[in-house]
Amino acid sequence: MKTLLVTGSSGLIGSEVCTYFARELGFAVHGIDNNQRAVFFGASGDTRRNQQRLERELEGFTHHELDVRDRAGMIDLVATLRPQVIVHTAAQPSHDRAAAIPFDDFDTNAVGTLNLLEAARRACPESPFIHMSTNKVYGDAPNHIALKELETRWDYADPAFAEGIPETFTIDQSKHSLFGASKVASDVMVQEYGRYFDMPTCCLRGGCLTGPNHSGVELHGFLSYLAKCNVEGRPYTVFGYKGKQVRDNIHALDVTRFIAAFAAVPRRGEVYNLGGGKQNSCSILEAFALTEGMTGQAQVFNSVDQNRAGDHICYYSDLRKMRSHYPGWDITKSLTQTLREIVDAWQMTRAHG
Ligand SMILES: NC(=O)c1ccc[n+]([C@@H]2O[C@H](COP(=O)([O-])OP(=O)(O)OC[C@H]3O[C@@H](n4cnc5c(N)ncnc54)[C@H](O)[C@@H]3O)[C@@H](O)[C@H]2O)c1
Repeated sequence: MKTLLVTGSSGLIGSEVCTYFARELGFAVHGIDNNQRAVFFGASGDTRRNQQRLERELEGFTHHELDVRDRAGMIDLVATLRPQVIVHTAAQPSHDRAAAIPFDDFDTNAVGTLNLLEAARRACPESPFIHMSTNKVYGDAPNHIALKELETRWDYADPAFAEGIPETFTIDQSKHSLFGASKVASDVMVQEYGRYFDMPTCCLRGGCLTGPNHSGVELHGFLSYLAKCNVEGRPYTVFGYKGKQVRDNIHALDVTRFIAAFAAVPRRGEVYNLGGGKQNSCSILEAFALTEGMTGQAQVFNSVDQNRAGDHICYYSDLRKMRSHYPGWDITKSLTQTLREIVDAWQMTRAHG
């Protein structure tokens, strides 16, 4: 039986990857998570429920209460397991949080990734190594593209970006936030282990990754948090850009299906922009309207003029490179379907706790 090692296994993407590889591909799955999300974001970021669900529902799932910053622990575990596939999703994932905890952010995102890469190089350099990167590696450079203001959203005015942001876009000389900078460090390191050591690595530069298992909080998890506010009747705060800022949203299952496609036919030191693309993009105002249509409950919101530092005005991923390298892969969950699942999950939580 093949073995998969997933870091951040209790999180949104990690838990989806564990489930898919165990159920659909018959892997023995080892997950690493220490519920650090609850340390980063407080009780509402707690991911123990996902951990318990995996332990209860997945045959052959083993949880390891380990911190990716624990270098010796990571090297030992990877040497023991010698997994056939490694998926790295553990991270401090928030822009805004990083400024308050710069050492924790960098140690987790950059050094934690290096620990895992080096552990893999020593024990199983031939195993596909898939790293969850982020579109924040592009910093605020996408904000310098000419934009047009439409009634409910911003969009690119420059036809060169009609399909979205490609992987060739600059990651240099822009404002990233400390989070974006620590993710650049890990992204470049993962590419380097691919190019320098010839390992089958890739970086997936995520747009907004989401789904019903997201513990959405104000500082991370756009659609999940927005739907939660609506279901619970809480006000949502819009930070700048008139609520017309655009995000592309991809369901965790479609993220996982791409990870599985890469693991099956890996390449070296690759980079992909993994988002929902233009078809799954929406502005905050459009997301309010969609959610209101599902719950029948008007969204109360307040606006502050100040946008979040380094935040994108309009971002959607150009999916053409992914589609050309992996023609069997495509988006299978529409924005509406994804939001429906998220709303249902929050309504269920509200009803049953
Ligand atoms: N969700 C998004 O919208 C999004 C967008 C772009 C990129 N990404 C990236 O995708 C990856 C996964 O994101 P997610 O939404 O699933 O995040 P998540 O916060 O839901 O999951 C991450 C998991 O990692 C764990 N973790 C954090 N630090 C750890 C540490 N030091 N040791 C062990 N475990 C630790 C957390 O407890 C959590 O369960 C991250 O790298 C993130 O930066 C996410």
